[in-house]
Amino acid sequence: MCNILYEGKSKIVCKGRDESTLLIRYKDTATAFNGEKKAELSGKGVLNAAISNLIYAYLEENGVKTHLVEVVDDTSVIAKKAEIIMVEVIVRNVAAGGFSKKYGVPEGSELKNIVLEFCLKSDDLGDPMINESQITAIGLATDEELGYMAGQALKINELLRSLFEKAGIRLIDFKLEFGRSGGEVILCDEISPDSCRLWDAETNKKLDKDRFRRDLGDVLDGYRDVLARLKNVR
Ligand code: C5P
Repeated sequence: MCNILYEGKSKIVCKGRDESTLLIRYKDTATAFNGEKKAELSGKGVLNAAISNLIYAYLEENGVKTHLVEVVDDTSVIAKKAEIIMVEVIVRNVAAGGFSKKYGVPEGSELKNIVLEFCLKSDDLGDPMINESQITAIGLATDEELGYMAGQALKINELLRSLFEKAGIRLIDFKLEFGRSGGEVILCDEISPDSCRLWDAETNKKLDKDRFRRDLGDVLDGYRDVLARLKNVR
């Protein structure tokens, strides 16, 4: 077992190989609605690790700086230690989830432009939406960092849309987290069906965590499908 520094909802963070790295282990735990709904889904950790590692390798190849250093085994990676910026960045290509609910826009509606949202990363406060002047006012990030994160989020959206499109999957929306490491801002956390909405391009079948949130059937069937399709195009 590793030397645990912190246990989150879906990952365990352990000491890394040296002071500048961490070992991150994906768990099988699925949570939704700020931890109110919880289940153990055997195999989820392996699937999310594989999907996220494949995506991070693709992003790195395309010039996105990420925390990923090395894949250790089927659930663990070595990542650069970073000071997490407590702002979640959400990118939306199609209306769904929280956006549909909050603004009364039917799920699946096309959007006239890409939507970028910032949320305060706080389980206690339920991750409330926060605007740029609020973020800088309370010192969560500087204007420069926010501009960089927004630019990276849009670049990552273009790269992921193209990757998923080849795999016959629509990228509806997703969440990113960034951190400060070695004087730069890098992409942290994971990109997986836990943090993205992914719909089959032909049928709009949901292949992501909404299967868990909404009890839509075998959750990991969707995740397995995403991984198999991504492997086909990578
Ligand atoms: O719930 P909402 O519609 O705001 O979520 C937008 C996207 O961000 C979804 O893909 C969801 O899975 C992801 N998300 C996340 N973690 C959060 C909030 C949202 O991964 N804390």
